[in-house]
Amino acid sequence: MSRRPLTVALAAAALTALLTTAPGAQAQPSPEAIVDAFEGVLGPIRSHRPSHAKGTCAAGHFTATPEGARFSVAPVFDGQRVPTVIRFGVGVGNPAGPDTGRTTRSLSIRFETAAGDIWDMANISAPIFGSPTPQVMVDGLLARRRDPATGQPNAERVAAFVAANPATTLQGRWLAASNPPASWASTPYWGVNAFRFRGADGEVRHARWVFEPRAGVQRLTDEQMRTLPANFLADELRRRVGTGPVEFDMVLQFAGPGDDLVNPTVAWPDDRPRATVGRLTVAEVAPGPGGACDPISFLILDQAPGIEFSDDPTLQARAGAYAVSLSRRLQ
Ligand code: HEM
Repeated sequence: MSRRPLTVALAAAALTALLTTAPGAQAQPSPEAIVDAFEGVLGPIRSHRPSHAKGTCAAGHFTATPEGARFSVAPVFDGQRVPTVIRFGVGVGNPAGPDTGRTTRSLSIRFETAAGDIWDMANISAPIFGSPTPQVMVDGLLARRRDPATGQPNAERVAAFVAANPATTLQGRWLAASNPPASWASTPYWGVNAFRFRGADGEVRHARWVFEPRAGVQRLTDEQMRTLPANFLADELRRRVGTGPVEFDMVLQFAGPGDDLVNPTVAWPDDRPRATVGRLTVAEVAPGPGGACDPISFLILDQAPGIEFSDDPTLQARAGAYAVSLSRRLQ
């Protein structure tokens, strides 16, 4: 967690230096190459995020349970009420994309303790990610660049990429079997990547988290997917927050023997031990576009003493790419 202001330039410069000099770090695309690959598909980043471009700002607070303090010494788990900046998103590259499509929804959170410690996260409504490594993600984006002659991606190049990288189809298959959420408040949001949690007992445990909706899980019917308007999620959330609390329990799932700690396309078995470590309350939703979540990025950083990066190279890639993406969209 940072005790200093997270300026864009500082974050980008520090992370780029870290990524290029870390001893023993796996070779992976630079943050600039990653964001270039997004721009190759979507065009130049201007005002919106290249991923989860559509979103609505909200605010609330997080309070850890005693189990939270047991499993992490990070300040955010000390049991005090921690104010949060929240962004609910839709996994589309176009900020006007539909709320009814078979893509992920997202819950991004900035926790800011009274002492000024900041912890950011960005979670999705699927238990797995669409790329096993950062390089495969970049290769997938490069394969989908539009052909200047047709204005469309080259179908043969995309097919060859998919055939060579079957793990990139797993998230799509999960989404095909699970209709999109009926509300931003009615889906679990998974952190997907494994982190190392350092507990009060000094022990380090690999865990992944999920935010479970207290309202239960509700998905759109096939009929609703066809008939609901393209923009229903924000108003639906405003109505809910206006009539009662919207809450999520943060649950840790601990790795078992042999579980894959570095590949976010592989879920861990359901029978792994779990602990409820805190509750997130969404207290307000922005009345319209913009808000406190817009000019920031939810930076995935390795700065918290009790919540440290695992060896999953995706985490390092996210750290740098989010900072570079933010600096481009705020230019
Ligand atoms: C190699 C891996 C990844 C790369 C290169 C990557 C890249 C990016 C970039 C460039 C952004 C835009 C950031 C901004 O402009 O603020 C973004 C946003 C986002 N990513 Fe990733 N990402 C990766 C993995 C993941 C994973 C595993 C998850 C799932 C937990 C995820 C969830 C999100 C979400 C929810 C957002 C929107 C954040 C917001 O609301 O501001 N990403 N990603």
